[in-house]
Amino acid sequence: MSAARDRVEELVAAAREAMERGSYAPYSNFNVGAAVLAEGEVFPGANVENAAYPMSVCAERNAVAAAVIAGKRSIDAVAVVTRAEEPTPPCGGCRQVLNEFGPKMLVVIEAADGKRAEWTLPDILPHAFGPADLKT
Ligand code: THU
Repeated sequence: MSAARDRVEELVAAAREAMERGSYAPYSNFNVGAAVLAEGEVFPGANVENAAYPMSVCAERNAVAAAVIAGKRSIDAVAVVTRAEEPTPPCGGCRQVLNEFGPKMLVVIEAADGKRAEWTLPDILPHAFGPADLKT
């Protein structure tokens, strides 16, 4: 986790860039950028909405998918950036997806004015269902 803490500024900057460049949110106007630190590499993602609203994908899940597609299977940290006034925690679905690859990961959220919140995933997803629960 300390290696992850050393990379937080880089991770937040990547999430901000992903929000500014990549977020497609014409329906909610709620732009989100995310970046995950996976096995030493940073993978950005942004929310991509769709005219068929439920097909929209959150920033965190796109960042996780980018890391997994690149062959990574372990995530140490996620940063999320929005233009909201207060740091906004990842939605429940994204918490579950993050848990699959980093049940102890660091979660850093940054709001518009740079205000941050920091948690670990177990803080915001206690008693998670995960891969081990299928091995009964
Ligand atoms: N959104 C994310 O990208 N991440 C979250 O954790 C919360 C919500 C997106 C989904 C949708 O495009 C917009 O924010 C409004 O819900």
